[in-house]
Amino acid sequence: MAVLFASSVLPFAIWAAELKRHLPELDLRCWPETGDRAEIEAALVWQPPQGALAHLPNLRLVHALAAGVEDVLADPHLPPHVAVARLVDPFMTAAMGEYVQLQVLRLHRRDLVYLDQQRARAWRELDQPNAEERRVGVLGLGVLGGEAALRLKVLGFDVAGWSRSERRLRGIPCFYGRDGLARLLERSEILVCLLPLTPETENILDARLFAALPKGAALVNCARGAHLVESDLLAALDAGQLSGAVLDVFREEPLPPGHPFWSHPRIVVTPHIAAATNPRTAAPVVADALRRMAEGRKLLNLVDRQQGY
Ligand code: NDP
Ligand code: OXD
Repeated sequence: MAVLFASSVLPFAIWAAELKRHLPELDLRCWPETGDRAEIEAALVWQPPQGALAHLPNLRLVHALAAGVEDVLADPHLPPHVAVARLVDPFMTAAMGEYVQLQVLRLHRRDLVYLDQQRARAWRELDQPNAEERRVGVLGLGVLGGEAALRLKVLGFDVAGWSRSERRLRGIPCFYGRDGLARLLERSEILVCLLPLTPETENILDARLFAALPKGAALVNCARGAHLVESDLLAALDAGQLSGAVLDVFREEPLPPGHPFWSHPRIVVTPHIAAATNPRTAAPVVADALRRMAEGRKLLNLVDRQQGY
């Protein structure tokens, strides 16, 4: 069995070395050096170059080297019968948990306002609720959102979450479906987005959603840039409906130098680093999937191609 590596952004040499530590016999080929295409049964991809998945007659599995798979599913060359798996790496889950804890804490502790005050040399104490008085909502209660919600709970926040289907998380009120969204939003002073990008969730962070939050709420978007309607965010910040936003993901990445988010006093920008794929910790997960496929065992973390995540 041969495996094709196809990514316009990830370093092949590092991935090859890490994968071979776990699968020394692996026949790994880097696109466009495919060799005999009929030998390729699996592909490892993130932001695959145009056409990389075309003309692979025996392809059975596409394993994303990322948790989000919207770009893989949008590839017109992805054959309909091929299984798609996404990356679930416990170290990545922990990294996202840390990021969410950090950003929610800084919004809770009014860090953006204190930074402004520092620049103005203003010594002014602001009201500070306790963590248990701060209501935090998490959109998406999957691998990453579920972990983030539990970690926020450990910090003492009054956490609730929202998902597509009914979920249970110990000690955390879980809402689901359209009606559930309204109930989550009305109680979320800090809202964290950890949804996958699908036709249903695209542009979900818009003026209507912001208006349903308590006045002065804050947003953390560490899912995908296309969840957010950027002009609606700027308008909600100007109007005081939102008090701040931490953004890790953007419609255009890297964020263009002239973009208003860079210099906005109530926006924190991070360069899509909330939970970066790490070849050292991800390689054993991918190697396990390839081994399972070779041995005809059940594959894990398969994407529901109809649902889009
Ligand atoms: P999962 O697939 O494990 O979880 C997705 C969650 O979103 C589930 O709870 C699901 O509901 C919910 N959901 C999906 N569609 C809807 C909908 N229409 N309405 C309500 N809820 C919905 O994904 P992960 O937690 O692993 O990852 C989430 C996203 O995080 C990724 O898709 C990616 O975009 C982003 N990400 C960002 C990174 C970064 O560095 N910034 C790093 C890694 C990922 P249900 O439980 O009912 O299925
Ligand atoms: C991912 C990401 O989806 O890093 O894994 O954004």
